[in-house]
Amino acid sequence: MSIYFDEKSKIFYLESKNLTYAMGINRIGQLEHIYFGKRTGRDLCTGIYTQGGRSHAIYIIGDDEKRYDPTVIPQEISTPYGGDYYEPSLMLEFANGNRRSDLVFDSYEILKEKPALEGLPALRHGETLIVTLKAKTAKVVLYYTVSETASIIARSMKVINEGNDDIRVNRAYSFAFSLPNRDWKATFIAGGAGAEAHVKSTILDRGVFTLDSKRGNSSASVNPFMAVGREATTENEGEAYGINIIYSGSHAITAERTPMGLVRLTGGLSGFDFSWKLEPGEAFQTPEAVLAYSDEGYSGMSRQFHDIYRSALIPERFVKKSRPIVINNWEATRFKFTMEKLRSIVSTVAGTGIDTFVLDDGWFGKREDETSGLGDWFVNEQKMEGTLKDLIDFTHSKGMRFGLWFEPEMISRDSDLFRAHPDWAMQTPDEDALEARRQLMLDLTRVEVREYIADVINKIIRENEIDYVKWDCNRDLAEGYSLALPADRQKETFHRQILGLYDLFDRIVNANPDIIFEGCSSGGSRFDAGVLYYFPQIWTSDQTDAPARAKIQYGTSFCYPFSAMSCHITESPNRRAKHVTKLYARAALAHMGATGYELDTTKMTEEEIAEIPSQIAAYKADEDLVFNGDIYRLASPFGDSNYFAIQVVSPDKKKAKLTVMKMNEAFNEPEMRIFPKGLDEDTLYEVAELEMTMSGKSWMNFGLYPAMPSGDFETKVYRFIAK
Ligand code: GLA
Repeated sequence: MSIYFDEKSKIFYLESKNLTYAMGINRIGQLEHIYFGKRTGRDLCTGIYTQGGRSHAIYIIGDDEKRYDPTVIPQEISTPYGGDYYEPSLMLEFANGNRRSDLVFDSYEILKEKPALEGLPALRHGETLIVTLKAKTAKVVLYYTVSETASIIARSMKVINEGNDDIRVNRAYSFAFSLPNRDWKATFIAGGAGAEAHVKSTILDRGVFTLDSKRGNSSASVNPFMAVGREATTENEGEAYGINIIYSGSHAITAERTPMGLVRLTGGLSGFDFSWKLEPGEAFQTPEAVLAYSDEGYSGMSRQFHDIYRSALIPERFVKKSRPIVINNWEATRFKFTMEKLRSIVSTVAGTGIDTFVLDDGWFGKREDETSGLGDWFVNEQKMEGTLKDLIDFTHSKGMRFGLWFEPEMISRDSDLFRAHPDWAMQTPDEDALEARRQLMLDLTRVEVREYIADVINKIIRENEIDYVKWDCNRDLAEGYSLALPADRQKETFHRQILGLYDLFDRIVNANPDIIFEGCSSGGSRFDAGVLYYFPQIWTSDQTDAPARAKIQYGTSFCYPFSAMSCHITESPNRRAKHVTKLYARAALAHMGATGYELDTTKMTEEEIAEIPSQIAAYKADEDLVFNGDIYRLASPFGDSNYFAIQVVSPDKKKAKLTVMKMNEAFNEPEMRIFPKGLDEDTLYEVAELEMTMSGKSWMNFGLYPAMPSGDFETKVYRFIAK
């Protein structure tokens, strides 16, 4: 049993693989956070935090027996105006203006099967504890899900209005917990389009440290993920906590060190300019937060996320399925293509093992560039010089499947859709609607908009033999206003837009269960667990330069598995970075995810084309290992070692693959020795690339020298095969 309630001490124990998460009902009825970390016994005590109660701010609720010190008692969900001065997790406003909402324990229930979160993506399985708290006319329901295979707890909250007047929910985060007074450091993945998931960290000292996005998009700017470790925690040693919000819109995660030195973490859906009107009988459900723990460093923490996302988040029908190996025309042609050009891209690689041709942006409406056409999902047969079926038939005749690009959430001002329904675009009255990439966003809070878009897109998919869809989203939401909502609900717009997006995903993805969907947002601007609930993979970045990708994929792996990263081989010199890289180096990086090609194949040399079949054979041989293995990050491209190294080990430890890139040539640099991890100590492993066979313990303790030729960006792949 992984959820246990000790009647005597009134403590709940949640036990997931190697962790204990404990909370208790204290003597004033609060749900006090007790512990989150490495497994303990089921013998903890409430009141631990009052033992040292030194704060002068002792508050008394009613009588002297109910003295408590909110500055030292960590809460499972904290609310303001009850003497707790830190970032609140829940802010309610009752009809009379009262904003104090002390929460008191009411009841609990343990469910073997996890209930789905209405309208929101969430983990699909796991035993679940439901704890109900009350604050005046508001019922606050906390959900906790445990996992048997990963050290993971998932949390969310639902607020129900049980009164006769409206309640305003002015902030509703998904979780809160507190860490003891230690030297904590936050590590996170942040950047921008083209520089996604750069690993950064900051020491958590006094004050509030917040990672957030106000972009209506999970964003490349700050991913909804935070790791918290000790100052000495490394990739493979020490304590590491991880927090990830399963959400694709504006978000926030806050770490705050209190005067007593505790660090409180809380977060979820962004509370920025947010207010949700809850009418009598209505409920508000927050997104789910996934909390991970490992005492094997940040790589250990990542393995918990990877495990749970593969087993309980990414659609089951895709998890074990091998993915298409695509050739996408975007980098080769952009908007300017002819039927002949598309056919020649396909023909050049027919028979190489590339099995799916994906037609990117520019095939619909009036779409010669980014200024027009979005929303008009009708094939532009004039530009295509034929029908879509002609191109699909041709692709099939070359033994390949067909994929198509859409950007369903958008509308161009210059489009038939905008001319027919100008009010369907997000806009603020008396202001010019804000264009970004020359496009506006559809108002997905409106059901008629979602119905229309789903119908036209499903029609194209139904009428054509399409096996793969790339779903793009090339701008962030700016307008915090929907013409469809009344004035007192305008602060709900950003969240309603995301609820609308999930409904649209549902209408299109679930209507086409055999199609593989790939998420994209100007590259990796929406690389989040919300999207992964619907799509098995996401385009990791428009930056495809191999050394830049080494950084982006390294950072992305902090939270998301390789199976979720779409990684393509593109041209050299790279279009943006101008770096010259060997094809095998680009392939090594692109084989750390769902691979593909994205370049003008007609410009590849004969030797390069001839290399593709063996590249694909090598990729296929390792696909299962890469998609389902345990990762160990061994050298950081953000550190000063000048190397990138990630190893992935099969769950049965029979196979491992280590990919190493030397970032820059450095004459006479210090020795680089890499120490593999996760191998079975006593098994003999052959590494053919080094012509060496040693036991797991020798490889792990003695290490290996990545004998690199001179030159920047040299890359090697080593395979460990159990003998
Ligand atoms: C975005 C994507 C690209 C491509 C273009 C098309 O930038 O990231 O891969 O699909 O849109 O406009």
